[in-house]
Amino acid sequence: MTKHLLLGQTLTFTSDPFENDWSDVAHINTSGGVLVEDGQIVGVDDGAALRAQHPDAIVTDYGQDLISAGFVDAHMHYPQTGIIASWGKQLIDWLNTYTFPEESRFGDRAFADDVAGRTLDLALAHGTTTLTSYCTIHPESVDAFFEAAAKRNMAVVAGKTCMDRNAPDTLKDTSQSAYDDSKRLLKKWDGTGRARYAITPRFSPTSTPEQLQALGALWAENPNVLMQTHMSEQKPEIAWVKELFPDARDYLDTYERFGLLGENGLYGHCIHLEQREIDRFAEVGAAVVHCPTSNTFIGSGLFDIAGLKARGIRTGLATDTGGGSSFSMLRTMAAAYEIGQLRGNVLHPAQLLWLATEGSASALKAQGQIGHLGVGASADITVLNLKSTEVIEQRANRAEHAWDAIFPTIMMGDDRAIREVWVAGEMVSWRAPSPVDFA
Ligand code: GUN
Ligand code: ZN
Repeated sequence: MTKHLLLGQTLTFTSDPFENDWSDVAHINTSGGVLVEDGQIVGVDDGAALRAQHPDAIVTDYGQDLISAGFVDAHMHYPQTGIIASWGKQLIDWLNTYTFPEESRFGDRAFADDVAGRTLDLALAHGTTTLTSYCTIHPESVDAFFEAAAKRNMAVVAGKTCMDRNAPDTLKDTSQSAYDDSKRLLKKWDGTGRARYAITPRFSPTSTPEQLQALGALWAENPNVLMQTHMSEQKPEIAWVKELFPDARDYLDTYERFGLLGENGLYGHCIHLEQREIDRFAEVGAAVVHCPTSNTFIGSGLFDIAGLKARGIRTGLATDTGGGSSFSMLRTMAAAYEIGQLRGNVLHPAQLLWLATEGSASALKAQGQIGHLGVGASADITVLNLKSTEVIEQRANRAEHAWDAIFPTIMMGDDRAIREVWVAGEMVSWRAPSPVDFA
């Protein structure tokens, strides 16, 4: 089997830098190496030592570039790629004006194939090796996404979005068809190659209690499968949930009472939480997902990362495209930093990079497998050029510490900072997505 040795500065984590002093658990080796064989990382050590031990390995020397685990986006919507950066609306109006008409088009398999491939290529171009995506109500949209990911050998999570009310007729299923289609797609895709399925009720306003019940039953039959949904993103949304579910104790209860709260659950946004909801997430071991560019773009609010991490709640980081305004997990880390500042919590670059890799992987219950630069993980690797633009370079040149040299790329970097991406041990030469007529 061919061995590859990547040389450069390596970034590894031995534990969670929110639970420990970051300086004890985040490690930069300025002359590190990563040995890759058969799709896996089989060694992380001093570059010179690995080179001496493995003279047969093909060497790629990245110099002072930073070799990181590939970025893991823990929540996004591939069908919204075509409407990213749509102006002027907050959540409910944004869904009705831009999102639902666009998502209505994904029963057309050729259209879905095109957007799925484009989205995955855009993700790779931005250094993201795993996407966790909502599809649309159309089973075709699910097959399109998983097939496009399989072609690229990418580890992805996705599911058929289920919604049977408060949406246009073109975008409604039923509780029975949501159950049947989700079950069939789950059996087809979960564990097929690198794919994992997530049962996906969009959010409680677009599902009847009957549909939530049916999906809760499906989850109980398949408890190891992930479940993803949205929660407590905007205040008018929360008020609407109270009207729709007058008996519920709070927003989380609209899931909990139907069997949709569990440790394999991923709850996107979670900005305006009540104490009982936080307590339940902590007790159950569920994961929340921070979507900072979306939260500022749609005007949702300031996620309390410090408070939720202090409660031990697993937290992933995500673009939430197309509510989020960027495919870049660098830009997403920058937005998380800015929201931290607005809340009075200063996030260290080690914490930001951990969220984008290990934290998201942990939210997906895939810790050690993806988002991890360590032995036994898949060789999904992103190499960052820390001097990708003039303004970044002149700032990095003044850095006194390794982290000072990395932070300008977090705050100002984009796809130009992505030197190289490896997926399952293969160097990716992604196609620059070609212009498309989405009209
Ligand atoms: N809540 C329900 N659906 C969506 C969506 O597509 N995007 C965002 N940001 N929030 C949602
Ligand atoms: Zn979302």
